[in-house]
Amino acid sequence: MTQPVKQIENTLKIIKMKTDMVPKIGIILGTGLGRLVNNINISNSISYKDLPHFPLSTVESHEGRLIFGKLSGKSVVCMQGRFHHYEGYGMKEVTFPVRVLKKLGANILIVSNAAGGLNPLFERGDVMLITDHINMLPENPLRGANDESLGPRFPDMIEVYKRDYIKLFEKIALEEKIPIKKGVYVSLPGPCFETPAEYRMLRIIGADAVGMSTVPEVIVARHMGMEVLGISIITDMGLPDILEPVSHEIVIKAAEEAEPKLAKLVTAFVKAL
Ligand code: HPA
Repeated sequence: MTQPVKQIENTLKIIKMKTDMVPKIGIILGTGLGRLVNNINISNSISYKDLPHFPLSTVESHEGRLIFGKLSGKSVVCMQGRFHHYEGYGMKEVTFPVRVLKKLGANILIVSNAAGGLNPLFERGDVMLITDHINMLPENPLRGANDESLGPRFPDMIEVYKRDYIKLFEKIALEEKIPIKKGVYVSLPGPCFETPAEYRMLRIIGADAVGMSTVPEVIVARHMGMEVLGISIITDMGLPDILEPVSHEIVIKAAEEAEPKLAKLVTAFVKAL
């Protein structure tokens, strides 16, 4: 089985003992979206520790809890803390929470990440709407026997990031007078950042931004028929000829600086949905 349905059911059972909310929207509070929590009218929060089959985050900047509440009047469930392949988790562990979000009722997934900019027209601090992705991670979360009750064996990937959401988000950005960029996100395993030669290669193959997350969760979301909005915060520039050193601290600082504008945009987006 792709993802043991029994495990999802076990987790749902525990969640439903704590809340009867049926969230319409799932949000992964990746780097850059942390501050969105302040705009949520929280009704319940459950630590990942208390959820069977949920992995535990090993990255300091990522907390580990599911938050239930209202954002712009809409019922949402947020993952505060997400999982990465580089932490040592298998792809099924990384994506298990997304399966749970969908089974709770969320048909929409909003996901954010920190990314290195590859497009020379980008700048540190930019918000980039993800229009498409390239998967360079070593394992696909759908590998293994497929459970048809979760999704098809061979899901198509022609419109992973919903075009209508991209259009709506662009309209909101215009109204809020916050400039945004659009582009293709490529996911690499990490945890080391890229060499100059790698940054150059990634630009050549068509990517505008590079990171270490998002693609597995989005593949699983699409497998289950969720509609996806993806956003990157450009935290550093990967221009091979003028490369400056990058560190986790630099990434976090740039993401924190961009958080207020992203929180504002996503709050307005959810309102408009
Ligand atoms: N490379 C990979 N992942 C990243 C980067 C980068 O330059 N910046 C933030 N996450």
